[in-house]
Amino acid sequence: MQVKQPLFFDTHQENKDADIQELIQGLLCPQATLSPKYFYDELGSVLFDAITLLPEYYPTRAELEIFVDQANEIHAQFPKQATWVDLGAGNCQKAVMLFTHTMPASYVAVDISTKYLSNNLKDLQAKYSELNVVGLGIDFSSSLTFPETLKEQMAGQPLLALYLGSSLGNFHPTEAFYFLQRLADLCKTGQPGSGLIIGIDLVKDSQTLERAYADELGVTAAFNLNVLRRVNSLLSSDFDLRDWQHFARFNAQESRVEMHLIAKRNLVVNLQGHQRAFKKDESIHTENSYKWSIKNFSDQLLKSGFTSVKHWTDSKSHFGLFWASLH
Ligand code: AVJ
Repeated sequence: MQVKQPLFFDTHQENKDADIQELIQGLLCPQATLSPKYFYDELGSVLFDAITLLPEYYPTRAELEIFVDQANEIHAQFPKQATWVDLGAGNCQKAVMLFTHTMPASYVAVDISTKYLSNNLKDLQAKYSELNVVGLGIDFSSSLTFPETLKEQMAGQPLLALYLGSSLGNFHPTEAFYFLQRLADLCKTGQPGSGLIIGIDLVKDSQTLERAYADELGVTAAFNLNVLRRVNSLLSSDFDLRDWQHFARFNAQESRVEMHLIAKRNLVVNLQGHQRAFKKDESIHTENSYKWSIKNFSDQLLKSGFTSVKHWTDSKSHFGLFWASLH
């Protein structure tokens, strides 16, 4: 018997030189910045998984609660016999949980690297022998182009895009608008019934928000500090992690939780021939996590080209799950 194998496309070329330029440029700005995409090396990904288990970090559990408690209504929206495009699929756990209610015809797991996906997708294919399993390695935040053979395969079916876990929260609202526009365009290439299911964290009291990003155990602090190890390995720089302190605050004006690393003393860092001096209490801004209201996010989806929007929340209204479609 012929056993089906997952299909892999890896179009993401690790562009180390561009990364290095971007990192140095950010660190030399008056307000030093690092992109949150650098958090996710092997250790960083494990630390993030640990964050999702923390009592203070409610988003992951709230999103799951919505999917469980409102399963019937949510799955009633999903097109049948569809191609699922799972953006930032990671360990594919969430999609697999959804398979118990709705089985897609094809499952396309998209992540920055197929290396992380490969073992998960082999297991998935073994378990669901009928399913077309595809791994796609692209940096979908900068481009959402699919290989031609995959496009042809997808065109005959409705498309369900999944963007879960409030990852869109890292985008400034203007960037989020452009990204959602690209997702609406993607859904338009699918057969009728296509749509987007997207999870987003909601605005709430600042204490709940700040605790979620400054947990008692210090896991988020480790996650934040780990980015300096990543930078040291990419730039051969000499950040000493002991000189830096994790800091998180809710910026209500911008409706975002900001994470920073704060210098504990005056110091100088060597960055490939450049030097950057930091004064005591000066910070490196490492992440924005935007928090939306139901109204603003629904409007944003409609502005981006979707024509119909539905939403569900958890019992505490901490988190929103949105269904955006084109009819
Ligand atoms: C993966 C971007 C959704 O913003 O809550 C968790 C990342 N940073 N704790 C978030 C994160 C600190 C997370 N996202």
